[in-house]
Amino acid sequence: MLDAMASSNPAAPRPCDLLVHGAAELATPLGCTPLGGAAMGRIRVVPDGAVAVVDGCIVEVGAAGELEARWAPAKRLDARGGLLVPGFVDAHSHPVFAGTREEEFELRTLGATYVEIARSGGGILSSVRGVREAGEEQLLQLLLARAERFLDHGTTTLEAKSGYGLTLVDELKSLRAIAAANRLQALELVPTFLGAHDYPLEHRDHKARYVDLLVEEMLPAVAASGLAQGADVFVEAHVYDVAAARRILLKAKELGLVRRLHADQLSLSGGALLAAEVGAASADHLEHVDDAGAEALLAAGVVPVLAPLVPLYLRQEREAPGRRLVDRGLPVAVSTDFNPGSCYCLNMQEALAFAALRYRFTAAECLVAATLNPACALGLGATHGTLEPGKQADLLVLDMPNHRRLAYELGRNAARAVVKRGIVVRERPGPTL
Ligand code: NIG
Ligand code: FE
Repeated sequence: MLDAMASSNPAAPRPCDLLVHGAAELATPLGCTPLGGAAMGRIRVVPDGAVAVVDGCIVEVGAAGELEARWAPAKRLDARGGLLVPGFVDAHSHPVFAGTREEEFELRTLGATYVEIARSGGGILSSVRGVREAGEEQLLQLLLARAERFLDHGTTTLEAKSGYGLTLVDELKSLRAIAAANRLQALELVPTFLGAHDYPLEHRDHKARYVDLLVEEMLPAVAASGLAQGADVFVEAHVYDVAAARRILLKAKELGLVRRLHADQLSLSGGALLAAEVGAASADHLEHVDDAGAEALLAAGVVPVLAPLVPLYLRQEREAPGRRLVDRGLPVAVSTDFNPGSCYCLNMQEALAFAALRYRFTAAECLVAATLNPACALGLGATHGTLEPGKQADLLVLDMPNHRRLAYELGRNAARAVVKRGIVVRERPGPTL
């Protein structure tokens, strides 16, 4: 009788697993598809916004007063005057490595260039030595520690490339470390095979043979292993030219792997045009992309994934034309490109501040570039990247009172609480500053 009364009363609060409340503001993009052009500046802002979660998914988003009346939460997370946004999605990183490269950073301080260091056997190849010497367990432990730091800074989903092994054995070892890390902790990793990151030393004098190996043996084995969602190629004069990259990417396509490219990073190398041609999910970096390349990306529905910290880190003047890409209608994503060579920073907040400073992205554009657009670049637009009913409950509370602070603040980790799949994985005390 009591049960019947309760269920016939529409105002009776329903049980939910988690209610996030107490936010000064909730800010989120909307939808499941990438937002470009003017749409990239349109977000939903709810003062005193709250989110209710059931079974790891968002069931309602709205004003806290209304949600408080409708839901009886098993657990509450008080945002304490902070900003509630979707967890950051970082769509480009190289987190599987052993050993850092601060001596190269200093060589660049003293005037050497990235390509000079690479040509003299350093750069990517120095990290290849580290990965080949490391055991799988050591790589896993290093990756687990890095995953914790990504979560500390509010990233809840991360694209993770192999690419410092450059033999089938060492690439699979890296990809298995990513798979194991995915099982062991909360940061969601989306694995990419980057066997075409550089030519390994043993193939430097017969590069075509390594491309044959990639196409005939490595890609099929990686695809069969199920350890990678996609494949990436570093398309650049000193590494893979367009012809080699095309062969590799078309093979990846044939095998059902998503295509990604390091495109037009150090020169106008034809990477953007090739990304469009092979139906890539993303074209990354793009410091040197021209109008024809941008137009091709737009027409082919390729998401540009920019890395604003990299030219700064490499001391290169040339930056991606972020503003121009958005104004053309492209749905841009911003990433850290965390790696030991060209960006030893895994903090998306820092990448966003530089997107605002260097590309002139507004705060709303920064938010879209760090959530929905990268989620779409990873094929996760239907489930990730926004705060809407039906999406996975990946949430971030930032220690700031409104979304404009996101692009305004430099040098502080403002992540206060992080929720992954409905579970509170970080909660830090302290006032809203
Ligand atoms: O995204 N461009 C190629 N790959 C990395 C650099 C990797 C490295 O130097 O170890 C990048 O910048
Ligand atoms: Fe990269």
